Amino acid sequence: MSWRQVKMPVYWMAVMLLIGVVQVATAVQFEVKDGKTNITCILADLSINFSVSYNVSSKMELATFVLPSEAVTNINKSSCGVENTTAPVLAIQFGSNHSLSIHFARNNTRYEVAELVMSYNLSDKIIFPNASENGTKTVSTNKTAVLAENDTVYKCMNPHLIRMDNANATFHDIRLEAYLKQSNFSQKVSTCSEDITPTSAPAPVTTTAPVPAPVPDPPVVQYSVNRSSEPCLLAKVGLQMNITYTTKDGKNGSYVFNIESKGVTVDGNCTNTTAYLSLSTGSIDLRFNFTLNSSLEVFYLDGVSLSTGLPADANDTHFEAANSSLNYMQTNVHKSFKCNSKQTLQITDPFTVNTYHLQVQAFNSDNTFASAVECSLDENGMLVPIVVGAALAGLVLIVLIAYLIGRKRSHAGYQTI
Ligand SMILES: *[C@@H]1O[C@H](CO)[C@@H](O)[C@H](O)[C@H]1NC(C)=O
Ligand SMILES: *[C@@H]1O[C@H](CO)[C@@H](O)[C@H](O)[C@H]1NC(C)=O
Ligand SMILES: *[C@@H]1O[C@H](CO)[C@@H](O)[C@H](O)[C@H]1NC(C)=O
Ligand SMILES: *[C@@H]1O[C@H](CO)[C@@H](O)[C@H](O)[C@H]1NC(C)=O
Ligand SMILES: *[C@@H]1O[C@H](CO)[C@@H](O)[C@H](O)[C@H]1NC(C)=O
Ligand SMILES: *[C@@H]1O[C@H](CO)[C@@H](O)[C@H](O)[C@H]1NC(C)=O
Ligand SMILES: *[C@@H]1O[C@H](CO)[C@@H](O)[C@H](O)[C@H]1NC(C)=O
Ligand SMILES: *[C@@H]1O[C@H](CO)[C@@H](O)[C@H](O)[C@H]1NC(C)=O
Ligand SMILES: *[C@@H]1O[C@H](CO)[C@@H](O)[C@H](O)[C@H]1NC(C)=O
Ligand SMILES: *[C@@H]1O[C@H](CO)[C@@H](O)[C@H](O)[C@H]1NC(C)=O
Ligand SMILES: *[C@@H]1O[C@H](CO)[C@@H](O)[C@H](O)[C@H]1NC(C)=O
Ligand SMILES: *[C@@H]1O[C@H](CO)[C@@H](O)[C@H](O)[C@H]1NC(C)=O
Repeated sequence: MSWRQVKMPVYWMAVMLLIGVVQVATAVQFEVKDGKTNITCILADLSINFSVSYNVSSKMELATFVLPSEAVTNINKSSCGVENTTAPVLAIQFGSNHSLSIHFARNNTRYEVAELVMSYNLSDKIIFPNASENGTKTVSTNKTAVLAENDTVYKCMNPHLIRMDNANATFHDIRLEAYLKQSNFSQKVSTCSEDITPTSAPAPVTTTAPVPAPVPDPPVVQYSVNRSSEPCLLAKVGLQMNITYTTKDGKNGSYVFNIESKGVTVDGNCTNTTAYLSLSTGSIDLRFNFTLNSSLEVFYLDGVSLSTGLPADANDTHFEAANSSLNYMQTNVHKSFKCNSKQTLQITDPFTVNTYHLQVQAFNSDNTFASAVECSLDENGMLVPIVVGAALAGLVLIVLIAYLIGRKRSHAGYQTI
């Protein structure tokens, strides 16, 4: 320990000199085992860049440093947790009295970093030169957006920023898994949104206006929600999300992505007058609320909410939107609503949903779709063949009349001779 205390400042200075030039930090490994069974429950390969603002004679200075490779698991403060009582924690200590605790939580489908707590020691004058205060400060956040499916490893190569009061922790090159069932990382991976290349990502090379690659049409998926084993919401649809966001340099970015058929957790339920469908992956939460107006005997889509990550160039890489006063797809109960054409539903200013080959029916206990009410887009689509057909019929009629008149004339002419 004494060796570490002596050696650390030298190491830190070297590291701090390096951060300005290259981001070199290599991942540091941590493991938490259950004290009784000796079974590994948390594994983590972490690279973290910290930046902390602190007071220097009534001015704020920024200290930047990385999680050093000498950082160790604090076994006394780490724990695998006790089911339903305490949550698993990975406690890390480093440098002269700095620490980081990663608290986990889970439900039936996924686990997440529910809280990140950082303590930094302002008395460490190597990291916090000229600090006007001494002693340890603790900051924390519950908004980490570190979320993974059950039995998968959370993986994030690109920077993932977690903000706390006065301090930022930027995770990168992360592999992290809690609630482990085996002593190594799972084969399956939950990729963070920063690593998912947006389907619309323009090639960041040209100086001229980049042409976004066309996004393929989404796969059409059939969803069905049951209420006490009776279907109460049927939907067949290809879903595409379209988000306009502000980039770090203040420009407008567009993030268009499809809801795929695989890797999506489908959930939903109904009451007599409400029905919802929720689609989620490790990083996306999408929900559709339907309402029944029993006096008018119609159902309609009244609410949509979305929570997702955004591409790494977004100023805020977490996006949330919700609108609960919509009135889309209004349809008589006992009928279904159908829209084969691409339909764009404006949810909020920056967020639209494109639907493809949609058919939906709520508050009807049938296993199959009832007769359909078509959207006006489809009817307009039908207009072209109708107009062409009518024009053709008109043409035939004109030719026929012309022929009849001509025949009559020539007949009459014959008679005069
Ligand atoms: C736990 O496992 C490690 C390595 O597998 C072993 O060295 C250690 O003795 C074990 N401890 C207990 C209490 O079983
Ligand atoms: C934890 O809670 C769940 C549901 O509340 C229950 O089914 C389970 O048996 C509990 N586990 C323990 C170990 O108490
Ligand atoms: C599980 O947790 C996530 C994130 O906290 C939440 O969005 C989701 O609805 C939860 N699922 C269930 C089945 O409770
Ligand atoms: C997810 O974890 C919970 C533990 O609470 C477990 O009950 C459930 O079966 C797991 N789900 C999957 C898909 O592994
Ligand atoms: C912090 O502690 C050091 C050493 O104990 C002392 O020299 C310094 O004056 C203290 N600074 C403040 C702002 O209290
Ligand atoms: C985060 O959540 C925990 C438990 O719900 C709570 O005790 C803590 O105060 C929260 N922290 C912040 C920063 O909101
Ligand atoms: C944390 O990051 C945000 C967004 O990049 C930035 O505005 C803020 O100044 C940072 N805070 C610190 C302490 O580095
Ligand atoms: C996404 O929305 C933007 C802004 O409304 C629009 O210009 C763009 O065409 C939309 N893209 C798709 C694929 O719908
Ligand atoms: C980025 O977000 C921060 C914090 O919300 C804000 O202060 C800043 O103005 C934003 N930058 C741009 C370019 O929008
Ligand atoms: C669905 O809603 C009914 C009440 O309408 C409730 O009894 C049931 O537990 C709910 N099912 C789920 C899975 O949430
Ligand atoms: C829901 O509808 C059923 C059948 O029409 C009825 O028996 C029940 O009382 C209704 N429940 C509520 C909460 O209105
Ligand atoms: C959907 O319905 C639930 C339950 O009534 C509500 O809590 C939620 O805010 C609604 N979401 C939207 C976007 O309307």
